[in-house]
Amino acid sequence: MHLAALTLRDYRNYRLLELEFPRGIIVLTGENGAGKSNLLEAIHYLSYLKSFRTSRDREIVRFGAPHAVVDARFGDEQGHDFEVRLVLKDNKRFVRYNGDDVQRFQDYIGRLHSQFFFPGDLGIVTGDPALRREVLDLELLRLRPQLTKVMSHFRRSREQRNKLLKLIHPQPGVTRDSRELVQSFEAFTEQMVTSGAQLIRERLGITRVLDGLFRPLHRQLASEEGEQVTLDYISQVALDPPEGIATSYRDCLTAAAQSESSLRYTSVGPHRDDMLFRLDGERDLKRYGSQGQMRSAALAFRLALCELSRQRLKDDPILMLDDALSEMDDGRKTRLMQLAGRYSQVFITSASRREVSQIAAAATTVYHVANGRVTPV
Ligand SMILES: Nc1ncnc2c1ncn2[C@@H]1O[C@H](COP(=O)(O)OP(=O)(O)OP(=O)(O)O)[C@@H](O)[C@H]1O
Ligand SMILES: [Mg+2]
Repeated sequence: MHLAALTLRDYRNYRLLELEFPRGIIVLTGENGAGKSNLLEAIHYLSYLKSFRTSRDREIVRFGAPHAVVDARFGDEQGHDFEVRLVLKDNKRFVRYNGDDVQRFQDYIGRLHSQFFFPGDLGIVTGDPALRREVLDLELLRLRPQLTKVMSHFRRSREQRNKLLKLIHPQPGVTRDSRELVQSFEAFTEQMVTSGAQLIRERLGITRVLDGLFRPLHRQLASEEGEQVTLDYISQVALDPPEGIATSYRDCLTAAAQSESSLRYTSVGPHRDDMLFRLDGERDLKRYGSQGQMRSAALAFRLALCELSRQRLKDDPILMLDDALSEMDDGRKTRLMQLAGRYSQVFITSASRREVSQIAAAATTVYHVANGRVTPV
């Protein structure tokens, strides 16, 4: 997959930008605030239908303009072109794919794939477990959009179960004697276990596949002598054997009944699970890793996601590395460029002249960004 042409109208600091892009490594350089990340944000927005920076679409519209428009033409490896148009207006977004309105995210998510890395993306290692669950679920949906059904089924039955927990236990530890309530509670518990166990199995499966892709990429980036990092899905529910997940989930809920009568919410399930980055096979990387080690793991994880879509969707994603090189030692920088060079199109931003001169040789084109203009150097 590659971005062949991009037009931005009143997008952030761009009044009108019209550009065609080659394949290969594209370097965007320029001073702080020039608009490098804004450009990547526009590309990222097209694949995720949201910004990585803001949840308020109106912030994206250029100051004083009525709306922002992004037009992009992409080509995939099979030689098919497609066009995407995005309009942001009055805090609403409108998306067209080859001229047709896109109504639901799930109909669109598998079409255009990009992976994005920026320094704050360390959150994938250091942040809240919810973030990692979200990334895993998003990847699952990209590979199999029909899993939305399982996910929403799990969410709904858990919500119902939580409501019933609060009705059965009007106060923490107090139990109301109602057969009817208990019966519906059990019915929703069973529904939740069915979809929850399926979701856990899917997450476990994708984590194992990602771990297999991640390890060699990480080793290449960190070098043979460097630290070893592995991925592990963790859950209160016993994961082995995978066929036993539903039974174990049920058992965990039975064991948690007493504490759930005071908590009054569902305390076990995929909504409480996590994925760990383990340092040298045991320790949690976010507690013991250095800044550069965590950054390398986060980057290798993004590369593993690229590899996954390359294998499963038979197409390279567009890789965007926003200011990703800073804080890496020179060896890791060089090795990252080698790894990135395997994808059909990569955007790399850097505000540092020294860094740009280090990577320019590997790039197809270097662009200079200034005042909402982008010119080849
Ligand atoms: N809605 C908007 N309208 C006009 N300008 C905007 C809007 N939103 C952000 N900007 C401007 O965009 C600039 C930030 O651009 P961007 O984040 O792309 O910079 P950058 O080149 O990535 O810088 P750095 O090297 O610091 O990462 C700021 O000057 C900001 O004022
Ligand atoms: Mg930036």
